[in-house]
Amino acid sequence: MCGIVGYIGRRDATPVLIQGLKRLEYRGYDSFGIATVGSAIGVYKKTGRISEGEAGAADLHGYAGIGHTRWATHGEPSDTNAHPHTDCEKKIAVVHNGIIENYSELKRQLEGRGHIFRSETDTEVIAHLIEEHYDGDLLAAVNATLPLLKGSYAVLAIAENTQRIVAARDASPLVLGVGDAEIFAASDMTPLLEYTERVIFLEDGDVADITPDRFTVYHEGRVVERPVELIDWCVEDTRKGGFAHYMLKEIYEQPQSFYETIRAGIDDRVRQMVMEAGEITLVACGTSYHTALAFKYMAESLCSIPVRVELGSEFKYFTPPLRGLVIAVSQSGETADTIAALKMAKARNCPTLAITNMQGSTVTRVADETLLMRAGPEIGVAATKSYTAQLAALMQIVNLRCEGAFDDALSHAHLAIGDILLQDVHEAVALCSKADHVFFVGRGPFYPVSMEGALKMKEISYVHAEGYAAGELKHGPFALLTEETPVVAVCTPGPTYGVMASNIKEMKARKAPIIALGVAGDTELAEIVDIFIPIPNTHLLVQVLTASIVLQLLAYHTACALQRDVDKPRNLAKSVTVE
Ligand code: G6P
Repeated sequence: MCGIVGYIGRRDATPVLIQGLKRLEYRGYDSFGIATVGSAIGVYKKTGRISEGEAGAADLHGYAGIGHTRWATHGEPSDTNAHPHTDCEKKIAVVHNGIIENYSELKRQLEGRGHIFRSETDTEVIAHLIEEHYDGDLLAAVNATLPLLKGSYAVLAIAENTQRIVAARDASPLVLGVGDAEIFAASDMTPLLEYTERVIFLEDGDVADITPDRFTVYHEGRVVERPVELIDWCVEDTRKGGFAHYMLKEIYEQPQSFYETIRAGIDDRVRQMVMEAGEITLVACGTSYHTALAFKYMAESLCSIPVRVELGSEFKYFTPPLRGLVIAVSQSGETADTIAALKMAKARNCPTLAITNMQGSTVTRVADETLLMRAGPEIGVAATKSYTAQLAALMQIVNLRCEGAFDDALSHAHLAIGDILLQDVHEAVALCSKADHVFFVGRGPFYPVSMEGALKMKEISYVHAEGYAAGELKHGPFALLTEETPVVAVCTPGPTYGVMASNIKEMKARKAPIIALGVAGDTELAEIVDIFIPIPNTHLLVQVLTASIVLQLLAYHTACALQRDVDKPRNLAKSVTVE
């Protein structure tokens, strides 16, 4: 939620900041702003998308600057509430990602001491507090301010006539990029790819004093060394490459991202951890929760490991008794609820593993071990290739526990994924784009696949959709079935085929149009449904992947048919760093 970026060096800061914010726009996109410092601080901020408002920033110039793209928490999206925020004299500017929980109290005290506030945000207190402590030494003023803040923050601060940026992090991500006589700061590494591959992931409690050719990191007042790491993503990965949307590009990248994640394998330490686990608990949110649920079905039925799956947001408040390995699944590695759950598992002395796509992200710092997915940067807000890469990572764990029984299926899965991308879904799109409600149903691992299909549909097309266990529909939702309520049913050979076929007939009897995903050549199923979408008749694990991809295509094309903003759906953000 919210992206921040900073630059200091030999270039004009404005274009670097604007370009950096565009890369971070997936973290929030209701408003944006930048502040540059030359002799004075210049600020430009605007409601709406960067591409629509960036021209207004062209008059700002400076050797250093900070920028922010916002997902509103305190105060509606508006020009005034957009960051950066300044002190009374406009000599100090700050951008902030996170939440200052005690801001009301701080604001009251500051107003009592004569400070004039302009916005409704929690962030503005930071600028005024720095102002109170500032006597020309920005680092000292930031250091005096931080202990007064309760909550989470990644903050960048600049001051007039000062050739430095002071950066601080606590429970919100912040990365530094080291160039040649220039230094970058950002919420994640995507804005840095253009300029450098050398990055430093700051730790909670770190404060960095940054000048063009030098940075010093302090922790609890002492200078600390943080390792410079090399990023293995490249800037081309972040371009749309001729596709209409990032989401479509990312859907098409799945054969490769799945293959790369399988190819990278599991290192010895993670292997040992997985092999020793008597029970596994997964914590996750959103799409990652669905991959975790799919894992539960696969692991319990194929290799008899007891698996529990918990939503990060629930786990934190209602922590179940824990035994065995705890796995946090998070594409961004920064989801606040998942991180909180992971920390609680650590506090209970459970071995912990992070499955994430983001090198250096917070979950990798908290967990004992990391299994890194190889999906590359995912820019579209809706998770697609990160979802199948998570499945790749989790399926490898299943395979490991089953002594390599699925080696063959997993090493060839990318071919089936490639084939399914050619599947035509336009008839189903025509039905869904006219509907107000769509149900997605399946059994076993296809139940979470259906939940994910429904999530994709609602988040990008705004068509209301529900994912249900097929057997549950008759316990209530049947009351909603009409000839205008399509049901998307996944029905492939296996122990539940017969009962799924009966469920489909029951739904048909209530006049609901049925879109069925079944294996190629299943004419019996094709005859009883309205629209039949074939998926290859492959191993169960591969069917989970191909069915999921058909549902991604269905959501994507429905959203396009309804002319939605596919890559940046309303009210959402890709990385949810607030609870
Ligand atoms: C947000 C994103 C979803 C994602 C969820 C969990 O809501 O829009 O796509 O599934 O966060 O994110 P994580 O990074 O933890 O997988």
